[in-house]
Amino acid sequence: MLNELITERKLPALPSLPAERQEVLHLLAENEYGFTPSFEGEVSGFTESHEITYGGKALSERILLSFPTPHGTFSFRVRVLLPVEVKPAPVFLHISFHTEENKAVNDHRIVEHVPEEEILDHGYGIVSFCYEDVTSDSGRWDGLALAYPSGGDSGWGKIGMWAFAASRVMDYLLTREDVDSTRISVSGWSRLGKTALWCAAQDERFSLAISTESGCSGAALQRGKGGETVRDITSRFPYWFCRKYASFAGCEDKLPFDQHYLLALIAPRTVFVGSAEKDLWADPVSEFLCAKAASSAFEQIGVPGLITPDVLPSAECDLYDGRIGYLLRRGEHWLMRRDWLAHIRFRDLHHV
Ligand code: GCU
Repeated sequence: MLNELITERKLPALPSLPAERQEVLHLLAENEYGFTPSFEGEVSGFTESHEITYGGKALSERILLSFPTPHGTFSFRVRVLLPVEVKPAPVFLHISFHTEENKAVNDHRIVEHVPEEEILDHGYGIVSFCYEDVTSDSGRWDGLALAYPSGGDSGWGKIGMWAFAASRVMDYLLTREDVDSTRISVSGWSRLGKTALWCAAQDERFSLAISTESGCSGAALQRGKGGETVRDITSRFPYWFCRKYASFAGCEDKLPFDQHYLLALIAPRTVFVGSAEKDLWADPVSEFLCAKAASSAFEQIGVPGLITPDVLPSAECDLYDGRIGYLLRRGEHWLMRRDWLAHIRFRDLHHV
């Protein structure tokens, strides 16, 4: 049944991976997210504050990360929260809507919940940065956008910039002995779920990508998608993408790929796709079918992709066995405790 539903979407066939990895990255960069500049410099972290918190259970630090760019040094803040009892600790690198002071950057602050103590108690650290500390979520060319020359129809958009920043945090984390370098995930919710996927697709040092309700231009197939379309997203948020992406509005079938290519680039590592039943704008069915369609890339490499019964899931469906994990939970567009517990369970099971 699932194969029939996928066939109806008329998806371009997956290229063979990892042999064609560079070509697939090129396709996605050229047509959707824009090209990411290469980076060879060194990232330094200055500890601005350091304290033991959560009643002695956690180390909390505020770090100012700095790195060289073609237009001078660029810096942004990162929050590091590590369980003191686990060394080195696996971490969630979470791209966040929250600022360090927990100020509202926009309404998303209210519905993006991170149950810190519970994550710590499961033996994981949380490293986070506020995406707008890198560059604003607007058409303004500011922050990191000013540090690199922008280029033409396939110049990078803001999703690419936020993803690039997460890779610089990864550079920094690899210098820390208290972080388990083999177990660093990158996660985000909604627009930042799209960002987490693009980040892990490019940066193979992440053991896991977690996207919660990333929908259009994230974990959802474009062809046959309900809810948000390329026209919707490129009219409201053109600056998230390269300019060329808008030319596919209303003709998604002309895209030389679909979003299963993005998930496939994460093989043979792990990826977790979270959907919410009532989040029709993101379209849970298209997210699920995307995970299923990407599975053959994992299987080609000899590892299982999504392991699922041959039916569409109904709410409160948790699929953890393959290298692609999937959750369809009840409820709406929100990042909640239920999501985090699923991520923890998936990580524990796969030891990623
Ligand atoms: C809008 C946008 C989505 C995005 C979401 C979010 O709804 O259309 O593509 O995922 O914002 O980031 O919350």
